[in-house]
Amino acid sequence: MARKLIAANWKMNGSLGNNAALAQRIVDGAASLACEVLLCVPYPYLGQVGGLLAGSRVALGAQDLSEHDAGAYTGEVSAAMLKDVGCSHVVVGHSERRKYHGESDALVLAKVHRAQAAALVPIVCVGESREQREAGDTERVVLGQIEAVFGGLDDAAARRLVLAYEPVWAIGTGLAATPEMAQAVHASIRGALVARLGDEAGAVAILYGGSVNADNAAALFAMPDIDGALVGGASLDAEAFISICVAGSGR
Ligand code: 13P
Repeated sequence: MARKLIAANWKMNGSLGNNAALAQRIVDGAASLACEVLLCVPYPYLGQVGGLLAGSRVALGAQDLSEHDAGAYTGEVSAAMLKDVGCSHVVVGHSERRKYHGESDALVLAKVHRAQAAALVPIVCVGESREQREAGDTERVVLGQIEAVFGGLDDAAARRLVLAYEPVWAIGTGLAATPEMAQAVHASIRGALVARLGDEAGAVAILYGGSVNADNAAALFAMPDIDGALVGGASLDAEAFISICVAGSGR
């Protein structure tokens, strides 16, 4: 079985002083663990945190990227820049980007293309709102978001990404999906991957995100189609994040 991927999304949190202590504790705590560990940090700190992670088994990622290649796009950050400073992954289409910055499925696809062209692995986020779940629309919404990306990728590109199922109602609320609820959606996503990629569907990791913490991680990871986690709030606490990584290592 593939190793689980435990990814931190620090969102818009951090400072030079706090990052140094947090990243060092994570490097130390992750050293002997049997999972993949990734820290997705704010742009200004990529260089700092990348330096701290150098030579460790913890990878560096960003939280967004520009859909443009290079040039006169004030305030934007390109895929090539992220690669240049040592990123291996980049989060794309997080619900906070979709909600606060109006990111459409088409923009998410454009960003996936840019990321892959720079040999970055995009972590594509999908998930339904509370209203959509209550209306019984979860599967349609989630599979629609995935199809909008997969429809623009050839099979080789479709294998080179990570999916993150993050129900919007579970993000930052302390109300994680139950393992069974999450597994039901992950199984639908896996079904879509099998339809597209056949035997190679297992090559695409499906992470769960939304109020993952030290107490609920192990039960989520016990589900057959949950391949890891994208962790927000709990990733800012070294002890909690390491506990999640330990759970992801099957211990
Ligand atoms: P929380 O873990 O804080 O709910 O955030 C989840 C998330 O949005 C990760 O991308």
